[in-house]
Amino acid sequence: MTYRFPDEFWWGSASSAPQMEGASRRDGKSDNIFDYWFSIEPERFHQGIGPAQTSTFYDRFEPDIALLKQLNHNSFRTSISWSRLIPDGTGEVNQQAVAFYNSVFDRLLAEGITPFINLYHFDMPMCMQARGGWESRDVVAAYVRYAGLCFELFGSRIKHWFTFNEPIVPVECGYLGHFHYPCVVDFRRAVTVAYHTALAHAGAVKAFRDAGACGEIGIILNLSPTYPRSDTAEDSQAARWADLLLNKSFLDPALKGSYDPELVALLRQHDLLPEVADGDKAQLMAGRVDWLGINYYQPRRVKAKEQACSGAPRTPEDLFDFYEMPGRKMNPHRGWEIYEKGVYDILTELRLGYGNPRCYISENGMGVEGEERFIGPEGRVEDDYRIDFIRGHLEWLHRASQEGSACCGYHLWTFIDNWSWLNAYKNRYGLVRLDLASQVRTIKKSGYWFAEVARNHGFN
Ligand code: BG6
Repeated sequence: MTYRFPDEFWWGSASSAPQMEGASRRDGKSDNIFDYWFSIEPERFHQGIGPAQTSTFYDRFEPDIALLKQLNHNSFRTSISWSRLIPDGTGEVNQQAVAFYNSVFDRLLAEGITPFINLYHFDMPMCMQARGGWESRDVVAAYVRYAGLCFELFGSRIKHWFTFNEPIVPVECGYLGHFHYPCVVDFRRAVTVAYHTALAHAGAVKAFRDAGACGEIGIILNLSPTYPRSDTAEDSQAARWADLLLNKSFLDPALKGSYDPELVALLRQHDLLPEVADGDKAQLMAGRVDWLGINYYQPRRVKAKEQACSGAPRTPEDLFDFYEMPGRKMNPHRGWEIYEKGVYDILTELRLGYGNPRCYISENGMGVEGEERFIGPEGRVEDDYRIDFIRGHLEWLHRASQEGSACCGYHLWTFIDNWSWLNAYKNRYGLVRLDLASQVRTIKKSGYWFAEVARNHGFN
């Protein structure tokens, strides 16, 4: 069977400023929360490797963009670092950062690679976190100013924008899961953080439109379909709550400009609603996007709790449990499920339930621990498992497109193996292997395969 995609389909990969730039304390950049956190608790990070140890894109972007070209990318996503562009969060623009980003964008464009630019990838400037982070409305205003400056400074080059990557992650990991800085576990504060992030997103979209900027603006959401263990009312309800809290809490404002009434009722029932100010409703409505990025890695399998939580829930997981479905297909090199049809289910739900918005798969990828085991005699990683992974997802994407989905592209996570938050280099995702010590890059087997798919706009 032939899987052929339209000629204008976007092929490429994604990364982010904090995960690949390096130069984390150079040329005027201030600390983001991960730079700061590493300076006080390095033992939290896998093998003690912090955000300064990257593939140093800041210094090597020219050869790296040549590599992107060799991989036949017609597009590439990265982000702008707020703490590099405006080191004190609200004040002067750092001209060295402007020069750097302009050089990167010019280089990409010169190579025929369309830059997709995201404004925020978990990397709150530490000075803004010290002022309350997303719990503070002042930080929302500061973010909207930062976004407006980006449109002004880079709008002549950038036509494809995103406000946030996976905004639910800082909520889940930073305010519910004790996994990311500031390591708070507090459902009420988490809801406020999510609400303010949605307002910040909407404020940036409004600023984009008010400025008459040309191009399109969206948000990147990690959508994980929630499948109930059984069709009992209890399991179905549990899966519905997980979906509302973890997917719909950002999806609905982004596409409909408002929240699902069932989510609002659930939060009200547990006295978790955030403070709402005059004008918020209109702002959320103004934040509806032109297009959507979808990050898809794995689904969530959900079951009802054995014992319903008696008091107020402390985290969403007091309302439902995740469970390991027997027989599910696993990535043997990292404990995540592989369920390729999930991509089809997401696209179908968007088509039937949300008016078929223009969207693309902005991240999908396979993390592998100890990937050096797969380096073959030619010195490259023989990652047939990654080729199978990508192919499986593209087959389902193709099917969704045949049925009418408005999905217009596929980006793999990631280009070169990159530094990833607490996991550092534990799980490798790249099309290109990075030797961190020597900084040597070697295209993996999947990189050559993906380059052919991108060149041919499909595969057999
Ligand atoms: C994605 C994030 O969800 O997962 C990336 O957008 C991250 O920033 C990637 O690096 C992989 O995460 P991990 O924990 O497997 O390294």
